[in-house]
Amino acid sequence: MILSTRRTSGLQNDRCCPIMLNVNKIRQDFPILKTRIHGKPLAYLDNAATTQKPQVVIDAISDYYRNYNANIHRGMHYLAEKATEAYEDARKTVARFINTNDPSEIIFVRNATEAINLVAYSWGRQNLSAGDTIVLTEMEHHANIIPWLMLKQEKGVEIEYVRVDSDGYLDINHLKDLLDQKPKLLSLTHISNVLGTINPLAKISRLAGEENIPILVDAAQSTGHLGFNVKKHKIDFLAFTGHKILGPTGIGVLWAKKEHLEKMPPFLGGGEMIDEVYFDRFTLNNLPQKFEAGTPHIAGAIGLKAAIDYLDELGLKEIREYELKLTAYAITKLQNIPGICLLGPLSPTDRGALISFTLKDIHPHDIAAVLDIEGVAIRSGHHCAMPLHNTLGIPASARASFCFYNTEEEIDRLVEGIRKTIKTMGKREHERK
Ligand code: ALA
Repeated sequence: MILSTRRTSGLQNDRCCPIMLNVNKIRQDFPILKTRIHGKPLAYLDNAATTQKPQVVIDAISDYYRNYNANIHRGMHYLAEKATEAYEDARKTVARFINTNDPSEIIFVRNATEAINLVAYSWGRQNLSAGDTIVLTEMEHHANIIPWLMLKQEKGVEIEYVRVDSDGYLDINHLKDLLDQKPKLLSLTHISNVLGTINPLAKISRLAGEENIPILVDAAQSTGHLGFNVKKHKIDFLAFTGHKILGPTGIGVLWAKKEHLEKMPPFLGGGEMIDEVYFDRFTLNNLPQKFEAGTPHIAGAIGLKAAIDYLDELGLKEIREYELKLTAYAITKLQNIPGICLLGPLSPTDRGALISFTLKDIHPHDIAAVLDIEGVAIRSGHHCAMPLHNTLGIPASARASFCFYNTEEEIDRLVEGIRKTIKTMGKREHERK
């Protein structure tokens, strides 16, 4: 198991940069943070599942529906043109955010899951046949496993999984061995939603590049915390979702190199993705419309743009510095709890702003239930990563995940709540025996 109760010596000595974020002020931007749960102030520590939304995002969505709601790309009237402009402006904002010069490489989808399914369905069915191998890792969540298992069932594609070592890192030697076998694709997460591990993409893309192996990165857990630079990382496909980066649900992004998108067949058929249609044939529209059949989530794209503008204004560097400090604080505090096992790397610099853990003899759902009564929201279960939990030899874990609006005081409440859980549940366990 990748469990650790040992202390890290690095924590105290970690680089401590001046923190520029004014968190008290930032918290005023998120109306939900004023909510009380069971009479206690909400401590929202479930940000890896979805982040809360700032007022500017809520306002941008509401402004669209109140003031310029219309369908896009198909009306000649004022509202239709205004809505089209806002939607395409959102695409340009996403392009700038991930550092591509070409907005037509940005495909709006529903979420990271749909982005990966699009690649598996379109690129996968075109480029993979029986006996071809693709490489995933043991730390993937279901969204980056199931679409490939579907291809395995349908086409006989083989899947190999890069091992995770006992400290929660990818086994790079195993990755090298698998890449030597010339797989057709490497598809991996940037940050594990359970272990928190940040995978070393620069190194990995260099290794895959030496063998000319295309890379898909699932950046669902990283984009809102570290940003993402598709040029720097030299990858082929990127998937992420809006609702984990302060945006609304139902909007996600697939970015792919144009050379791939141009060759790939469409995923869904219908209006917008076509140029000409006859009763017996059709021709395809250009990118990106080729992959955006039907009326898209216009309000979602507009909300996502507002979210990215908000993140940009705070500064991703400042966000990372603050969240790093918060994560280091949480690791130190959590490690002092008797019977706790933290999953994943202990060095905060090697991980995103989330910490999964187990408590001896106490089910993670019980931890979450006691914390909920204290107003502290965490996630418990397998976090859509059942195979990883099987590898770790545990049925489930509890996970606290942070955002830049969280505070050390909220982490103290998490720790207090866990201690209370041990007292309450531990006593019950004792009585049962
Ligand atoms: N994969 C998402 C999570 O980790 C839903 O919570």
